[in-house]
Amino acid sequence: MKQRTLSIVKPDAVRAGNAGKIIAEIESHFKIVAMRKLQLTHAQAAAFYAVHAGKPFYNDLVDFMTSGPVVVMCLEGEDAISGYRRLMGATNPEKAEEGTLRKKYATSMSFNAVHGSDAPETAAVEVAFFFPGCDLI
Ligand code: CMP
Repeated sequence: MKQRTLSIVKPDAVRAGNAGKIIAEIESHFKIVAMRKLQLTHAQAAAFYAVHAGKPFYNDLVDFMTSGPVVVMCLEGEDAISGYRRLMGATNPEKAEEGTLRKKYATSMSFNAVHGSDAPETAAVEVAFFFPGCDLI
């Protein structure tokens, strides 16, 4: 089934100069239907990760996600949600499979280079968070 999902290249990967390589790899698997580079505000990061509010890592996560620019993309493809999560690899790079984005570019569970939506419901909310309206090309 054709799906859309949200991808974020996180501040650690942008800072390290890995955004281009990550985007090229993503583009070899999925169609990039929208893309923006932006600096998240504290309020935006807190809202985006509201599902994790109250967890021990939440405040550090919000600080990290606002520590520098990110690149957000809406990806499209067959089973794009699970497919992009496979390309990313496990949240913890120590557990990520060889060849995955996190194995290559993440340095820890907190600084894990990329984000991807985890289900159709969250994908719809997360895509609309950054790309409201229907201006996707
Ligand atoms: P992400 O896919 O962006 O979704 C939530 C993020 O919280 C996750 O990637 C990690 O970067 C971060 N995080 C930090 N610590 C943890 C943890 N103990 N469990 C899950 N996620 C964590």
